Amino acid sequence: MTTKREKFGGRMAVILAMAGSAIGLGNIWRFPYMVGEHGGAAFVIVYVVATLLISLPVFLAEVMIGRRSHTNSRDAFARLSRQHPFWKWAGYLTILIPTLIACYYSVIGGWSVEYFLKSCSLSFVRMSPEEASGFFGPFAASPWTPVIMHLIFLGITVAVVAGGVKSGIEKFSKISLPVLFVLILMILTYSVSLPGAGEGVRYLLHPDWNELTPRTFAYAMGQSFYSLSLGMGAIITYGSYVSKKENILTTSAGTAVSDLLFAILAGFAIMPAVFAAGIEPGAGPGLIFQSIPYVFAKMGAGMPVLSAAVSILFFLAIIVAAMTSCISLVEVGVSFLMERSRMSRGRACLILFLLCGGLGVLCSLSFGPLADAKVAGMTIFDLFDWTCSNILLLLMALLAVVFVGWILPRRVVHDEFTNGGRLAFNERLFPAVYFLIKWVAPIAVVVIFFTNFIL
Ligand code: TRP
Repeated sequence: MTTKREKFGGRMAVILAMAGSAIGLGNIWRFPYMVGEHGGAAFVIVYVVATLLISLPVFLAEVMIGRRSHTNSRDAFARLSRQHPFWKWAGYLTILIPTLIACYYSVIGGWSVEYFLKSCSLSFVRMSPEEASGFFGPFAASPWTPVIMHLIFLGITVAVVAGGVKSGIEKFSKISLPVLFVLILMILTYSVSLPGAGEGVRYLLHPDWNELTPRTFAYAMGQSFYSLSLGMGAIITYGSYVSKKENILTTSAGTAVSDLLFAILAGFAIMPAVFAAGIEPGAGPGLIFQSIPYVFAKMGAGMPVLSAAVSILFFLAIIVAAMTSCISLVEVGVSFLMERSRMSRGRACLILFLLCGGLGVLCSLSFGPLADAKVAGMTIFDLFDWTCSNILLLLMALLAVVFVGWILPRRVVHDEFTNGGRLAFNERLFPAVYFLIKWVAPIAVVVIFFTNFIL
């Protein structure tokens, strides 16, 4: 099959597109609530170490698979392994996972849309801080609004994907990330100045090692993979758009570091507000939607115009960041359907909209009408998230590093990492990186996978 694949234009474009995929709700919404649920500063430390030692090698492995095979993530494994049946099967996982994630990711995207609209009508600025943080519960539990918002968010995302790789994705990430960065800094500055915020800063900086349980590792690594969009074909698919001239170490490390930075900043913007507002850090998926409006309401009492402007821009930036991520989640499935069954882009997009839209409705309702429908003690939403982040992602990331470390010939890996020996620095680093990919990452992932089931 010789379908011509589009290419990114230049290094900055690659990093921006990959960072656009990586930086999203995972950093701003998921990271803070994971920190709150799984041990505060201890979680943060495990998370940072896991990102540098395990996720970065996995990231490199995925970019290599994509760039080498030059095709979508499902066919990549099959092509590089000369159609070995096991790897053909593995390839399907890389389609399944992002599609499952898109279902509930767009529910959170929908919440952001609602909060954006509320900001535009100046609601948070007018509320008392307590009302603002209390808005979340009844909203998430109501049967209609969140579902409609979810479908609106997903609909726009899919429409962007229908527009094609370059025009759609690159434009979006170029504007949204810098804006989001500045806004998070502003919120952070205000948030740490709130009365009672010091506790939140302490919570992030002083590890309480008693909080560190075996499960912390599983959740921290799952979070790290999730945040970098690993283990789901997204980076493989992006890798296939990366030109042979690009230095994959620079682009991968650039993406990983910017992603880490965003998560940590988001943590420092949100946790102090959580403590100032007296919200339970382990409050779960609603954490930022409870704490951030509190900040805006507080700010609104003294500086209403500034507060209104920041809240509108903030939720807008979150929507865009969530959308760039959701775009690449959906893109995996779309690209697969197009290249496999030669379906038109439009039709592939429609199929994904119906599928993810439908399943997402169930996830959304699990905060209200379906709150009691539980499997193994988890709501439908938590079940989707746990299955994807703690089980499937780890499995898929393992397959990716094993594939590059053990199946691909060392010569090929070397060739990809050093661009045929032309990159002197990468040449020197290669033995260490190869060791991480071949031994450290797979063993760590296997061990951590099983800690999921230790109580
Ligand atoms: N990494 C994204 C974030 O932090 C979420 C995400 C998970 C993702 N898997 C993905 C994005 C796959 C794109 C592709 O929000």
